[in-house]
Amino acid sequence: MSAFEPLLQSLRSAVGAANVLTEGNLSAWEQDWRKREHGKALAVVRPASTLEVAEVVKACVAAGVSIVPQGGNTGMVVGSTPDTSGTQVVLSLQRMNQVRTLDAANLTVTVEAGCVLQSLQETCEQAGFLFPLSMASEGSCTIGGNLGTNAGGTQVVRYGNTRELCLGLEVVNAQGEVWNGLTGLRKDNTGYDLRHLFIGSEGTLGVITAATLRLYPLPASQLTAFAAVPSLEAAVELLGLAHRFLSAGLTGFEVMGQFALGLVVKHFPQQRVPFQSMGTPYCVVLENSDHESEGHARAQFERLLEAALDSGCVLDAVVAESMAQARSLWHIRESIPLAQAQEGLNIKHDISIAVSRIPAFVRETDAALEQAFPGARLVNYGHLGDGNLHYNVQAPQGFDAEAFLKNQEKPINALVYEAVDRFGGSISAEHGIGSLKREKLEQHKSPVALQMMRAIKTALDPHNRMNPGRMLRLSAAE
Ligand code: FAD
Ligand code: MLT
Ligand code: ZN
Repeated sequence: MSAFEPLLQSLRSAVGAANVLTEGNLSAWEQDWRKREHGKALAVVRPASTLEVAEVVKACVAAGVSIVPQGGNTGMVVGSTPDTSGTQVVLSLQRMNQVRTLDAANLTVTVEAGCVLQSLQETCEQAGFLFPLSMASEGSCTIGGNLGTNAGGTQVVRYGNTRELCLGLEVVNAQGEVWNGLTGLRKDNTGYDLRHLFIGSEGTLGVITAATLRLYPLPASQLTAFAAVPSLEAAVELLGLAHRFLSAGLTGFEVMGQFALGLVVKHFPQQRVPFQSMGTPYCVVLENSDHESEGHARAQFERLLEAALDSGCVLDAVVAESMAQARSLWHIRESIPLAQAQEGLNIKHDISIAVSRIPAFVRETDAALEQAFPGARLVNYGHLGDGNLHYNVQAPQGFDAEAFLKNQEKPINALVYEAVDRFGGSISAEHGIGSLKREKLEQHKSPVALQMMRAIKTALDPHNRMNPGRMLRLSAAE
């Protein structure tokens, strides 16, 4: 009998034998989305309630076994899959997917952590409300994962990150106790705000089991435009105009480099990407959400685009005539990460820099990369409205992708992150740290900040059972 058999027995009695997976192909839980690492789980455990989560945590802690919380496993930084030891339990929240309550007067919804983002969006829309968090992974990622990573997405320019959308949490802590903080209050100054510790903690402090989230009225109209711009400077100028002309109506502002768009054309030829023949270095997708009417939204958009064409920061633009057209314009932007994955293994940088400094950052870093690694292909796109670029690097044409990845740390990451520091930016805007960027965190965060983060981790999870080795290194041995 394996040393873990008593634990497996306790887990089976907590969640039912059918929900403790130990055999067969467990790749869906063991391999990360980017196929960077393939771990080995002792078991994948699928509780159906908060009390079951608490029992699972207690059993694991008593057995000295660590836990990797997992939602949709769409994370970008290898944070939701087990290591290769075969001794970690993957705690999948997928069965906890219920919307518990929707409070129309309070403009809040309370939902279980395993609810898929798209399913929550749809439920809210059917009730006449907008839950504005949105990203290309929304068909698979879960609210727990969104909170665990403090995910961003395409509507942050108006509504903020997941953190800004969350009013309360229910958490099973590292001792297996349930903390019910599902207050739905917009004002509550009763000491430390524990919710903010768990948001963005990447499963290292406890398991989020439910959340109370903010809702918004559905806009009367949502219009999407796609614009060709002559430079990144011009895209930043357009963003300034969009803030001025649309004000709070500006709900999306995404930039896409020409090479990134070319990958969509190459891998998804059925998509029609506007302005390809113009060969402009960048295009922008922007969205105007209006609470009056479609006519009002269109008139506002026309005034903005007229001003932008006059100033020369837009060379040409199309405004979607229907929801279907709007969806296909957004689909182009959202297909970039998938097209890049199809093109082969690549090096991702999820960075943020003050919007005003982005053009200079890209100009200098593009030149430095070209000098250090001639022919490296830059897949540059992202949430320009938030100062967040996915400044990714793909192997030169015809270069072996595995061999290319040997250059990941030096010269590529070293060069990009040195520039991020010089421009006062962040090495992780929205994807988090996981295990991929753990060493980077130590290099780029101040010693005082790291020491306070370690103090929080050891206070809340003294035995280091919650997603150990992720985000934060507690000792040099780890
Ligand atoms: P997982 O990948 O399962 O987990 C992510 C982290 O959260 C892990 O550390 C895990 O341990 C922890 N975690 C999961 N559930 C819980 C829980 N219940 N309690 C505590 N910790 C938990 N991200 C963005 O920010 N913006 C984007 O625009 C965006 N676009 C994407 C597009 C594509 C095509 C893909 C594949 C990914 C994209 N992502 C984006 C990344 C990813 O979808 C987000 O990070 C998402 O929030 C992860 O949710 P998940 O449920 O898949 O979490
Ligand atoms: C995106 O904005 O498309 C996502 O963050 C995913 C990615 O960059 O790969
Ligand atoms: Zn992104």
